[in-house]
Amino acid sequence: MSERTLVLIKPDGVRRGLVGDVIGRIERKGLKIVAMELRTLDADTAKAHYAEHSERPFFGELVEFITSAPLVAMVVEGPRAVEAFRALAGLTDPVKSAPGTIRGDHALEIGENVVHGSDSTESSAREIKIFFPDRF
Ligand code: PPS
Repeated sequence: MSERTLVLIKPDGVRRGLVGDVIGRIERKGLKIVAMELRTLDADTAKAHYAEHSERPFFGELVEFITSAPLVAMVVEGPRAVEAFRALAGLTDPVKSAPGTIRGDHALEIGENVVHGSDSTESSAREIKIFFPDRF
């Protein structure tokens, strides 16, 4: 059974030239990229995407960072795609993330952790609608 997940290569990942690395890991795993776009988010889209974190102390910083420069948004498809990409990404805290994962290999700070992946199929349906309305 195939499912879809929303993946973002965040502004730090694009700025550092990690787009090819992240795409390579997704493809080597056997997941399929079914939509992809380079874009700079506006604040309203960023706030909608991170709405569940709106009461957290770092929300302003998170929105500022994610809108600061272009990111790559992708819809990735495959068996258990949500869980499969979260395993490739590693933990939110890159220092606690195992080497071999995207964050474990490439990041040190929670705020600049290279990628985002939906945390459930409910979240992925909501997030995909925000980034790719009318496409799925
Ligand atoms: S998760 O994936 O929802 O369990 O992670 P969580 O810890 O709840 O964090 C949600 C997103 O907020 C980002 N984050 C932060 N940004 C800036 N500063 C601080 N202190 C901070 N803590 C968490 C974190 O990178 C998650 O972003 P995404 O894009 O969802 O991975």
